[in-house]
Amino acid sequence: KTERLAAILSQTPVIPVLTFSDAQTGVATSKALRDGGLTVLEVTMRTPKALEALKAIVDEVEGVTVGAGTVLEPEHVEQAIVSGAAFLVSPGSSSRLISAGSEAPVPFLPGVSTVSEALQLAERGATFAKFFPAGPAGGAPFLRALVAPLPEMHFVPTGGIDIGNAQDYLSLRNVAAVGGSWVAPPDALEAKDWARVTQLAKEASALKARPAA
Ligand code: 3PG
Repeated sequence: KTERLAAILSQTPVIPVLTFSDAQTGVATSKALRDGGLTVLEVTMRTPKALEALKAIVDEVEGVTVGAGTVLEPEHVEQAIVSGAAFLVSPGSSSRLISAGSEAPVPFLPGVSTVSEALQLAERGATFAKFFPAGPAGGAPFLRALVAPLPEMHFVPTGGIDIGNAQDYLSLRNVAAVGGSWVAPPDALEAKDWARVTQLAKEASALKARPAA
């Protein structure tokens, strides 16, 4: 599963973190992001329609790999998989979640924001973690400082990232990709301004991740 996760993350420098209040908006936004070159999408489990949106995107949008984000409970793991999620992401890494995630048939990306949390995952053999909330937890300098002590660990920083600072993270050798909601701003979704979403996705997909060593 680690290899599958590595393959998914290597497809893209930026993973849009998406929150949908209806399935139709999810489908249209996903097509717009794909048309701009972003093909790995994270649909957060934060709304009552999240699972429905996830399933609609999986069924109706070609050429994208869709995961479930904001997975907080073991029950979310099951629901997301039934809805077709290709991977799972959590902002944290409770032991219940780690167990549920490791038993899941798809890759699980747990979240960390401290050295000890990263170490705990490394002890269990993990080599990828989400770094959340990236900005408040120390930003790119924090991750740069982890390269020497934790050389095997690779991160997907999310939280406070946008087109202006994404490259600071992507230039680090322990960053596989970054996540963020900036490519699908709520006002653009509200206005059904798909051209703007595609344009933001184009700018984001042109960023370059340093290939993980
Ligand atoms: C997440 O869950 O990953 C974040 O909410 C995304 O953070 P952002 O909105 O600051 O990009």
